[in-house]
Amino acid sequence: MLKIKKLTVQYGPLPALNEISLEVKHGEVVSLLGPNGAGKTTLLLTLSGILKTTEGRIIFEGEDITNLNPHKIVSKGIGHVPQGRHIFPTLSVIDNLMMGAYLHRDEKKEIKKDLEWIYQLLPVLKERTHQRAGTLSGGEQQMLSIGKAMMGRPKLLLLDEPSLGLAPRLMDEVFATFREMNRKGLTLFIVEQEIHLSLSISSRGYLLRNGRVIKEGSASTLMESRELMASLGGYLPDVYIG
Ligand SMILES: Nc1ncnc2c1ncn2[C@@H]1O[C@H](COP(=O)(O)OP(=O)(O)OP(=O)(O)O)[C@@H](O)[C@H]1O
Ligand SMILES: [Mg+2]
Repeated sequence: MLKIKKLTVQYGPLPALNEISLEVKHGEVVSLLGPNGAGKTTLLLTLSGILKTTEGRIIFEGEDITNLNPHKIVSKGIGHVPQGRHIFPTLSVIDNLMMGAYLHRDEKKEIKKDLEWIYQLLPVLKERTHQRAGTLSGGEQQMLSIGKAMMGRPKLLLLDEPSLGLAPRLMDEVFATFREMNRKGLTLFIVEQEIHLSLSISSRGYLLRNGRVIKEGSASTLMESRELMASLGGYLPDVYIG
């Protein structure tokens, strides 16, 4: 579904991403793991067309989407839940969700159906329909950010640290929702530092460090990986990383 080939992205003279290659297949949940500053957010921003690449290609469903502008990429079926919940705090929950549906704004009937499905998936949003988004709790804002991206009817959803700032119980709930969304056909690419939680719903994963993929494999292989533990668990010294 998504193929990234030798992608390089630079902010200044140093590359933040260095010849990254990876893929996500239809129907998969794939984790992108790595320590702070590894380049995870940079990769998602590039996939969404917000950052431009200097080298490499991004292929989505057989089509080259490298450096297309962000709204074109949304219309191809890639949704993005950015790090830090980009919602409109002065607008109500429902108005935020409608902003997510702007590409389909003329399809009133379908939007109503999408909304029902999102309310079913994230019932807290239904309870809070008319509340101003800025007054929602952190967890509720995270749900709204996910719901807003879902209103764009993505085939592939990119999630940037969805567990950030959530209490453990809520994290479990959010990840159970992801599992459910995946079961209904949505493909997920999840950036996380909660490695166990993220790998528990993933089939595969990649470990990013200093802008490079240093390890990839099945979720179970990664769960036992020394490199992963060294990068994120922090109890093995660097000298062990091959
Ligand atoms: N706008 C920018 N200008 C210059 N450098 C940047 C910019 N944004 C990010 N960087 C640098 O690029 C590198 C990768 O950052 P990125 O935000 O992609 O990391 P990350 O893996 O998402 O980290 P975190 O887990 O902390 O969110 C970092 O060294 C960061 O300082
Ligand atoms: Mg980040």
